[in-house]
Amino acid sequence: MKKLIIANWKLNPTTLKDAQKLAASISVKAKNKVVLCPPTIYLSNIQYPNIGAQDCFWADKGPHTGQTSPAQLKDLGVKYCIVGHSEKRETGDTDEMVNGKVKACLAQKITPVLCVGFGTTVEQDDLEVTDVLKKQLNVNLAGVDASQVVVAYEPVWAISKGNPYLTRAADAEHAEKMAIFIKTRYKAGKVIYGASVNVNNAKGFLSQPNIDGILPGGVSLIAKDFNQIINM
Ligand code: 13P
Repeated sequence: MKKLIIANWKLNPTTLKDAQKLAASISVKAKNKVVLCPPTIYLSNIQYPNIGAQDCFWADKGPHTGQTSPAQLKDLGVKYCIVGHSEKRETGDTDEMVNGKVKACLAQKITPVLCVGFGTTVEQDDLEVTDVLKKQLNVNLAGVDASQVVVAYEPVWAISKGNPYLTRAADAEHAEKMAIFIKTRYKAGKVIYGASVNVNNAKGFLSQPNIDGILPGGVSLIAKDFNQIINM
């Protein structure tokens, strides 16, 4: 069974030339399904079979300075869009806004990659973590057919600042439990894991039966390592 591997490049790299070079160095014949999410400004100039965006707005057009809409993303051939990333929640995205973004993506037949796990801490037990997830998912998925959504469990404390070899990922067993919880309670189409995924721990997540893929950040910028991961 192919797993879904979504590369979140975040605010990298700083030139289009480097972005194109990175995209060109990622295998298009990997064992797993791969989606590249470059910065919005590069979206129309990156060639890869599956392209995703890192965020979008909840309206398709109108007086919304600086925004990018799912309708515009659709027009560029974008198939996936990350919404509710902790780095966006940190700068003001509320659960209601995230719900609006999920709905707007689905209306354009773009698969939302809904990130949850903002507000979790390393000390919490499984039950406490599911309480945080419930609070987010109850609102983020309100009025949504969750079977059309990819939910990414990203425990915020485990997300690297860029180098996933210097930080600690969550345990694969814990991530598997959260995936089961999200699938059972919310009927999410797919659940993937993200936060400090690297060459050494990727297989552990990819081999869990209920984890349908991963959402790597830092390691997706290292072509050699990422190519290894997408073929695991
Ligand atoms: P890292 O893999 O760098 O921890 O980033 C994870 C992430 O935030 C992906 O969306």
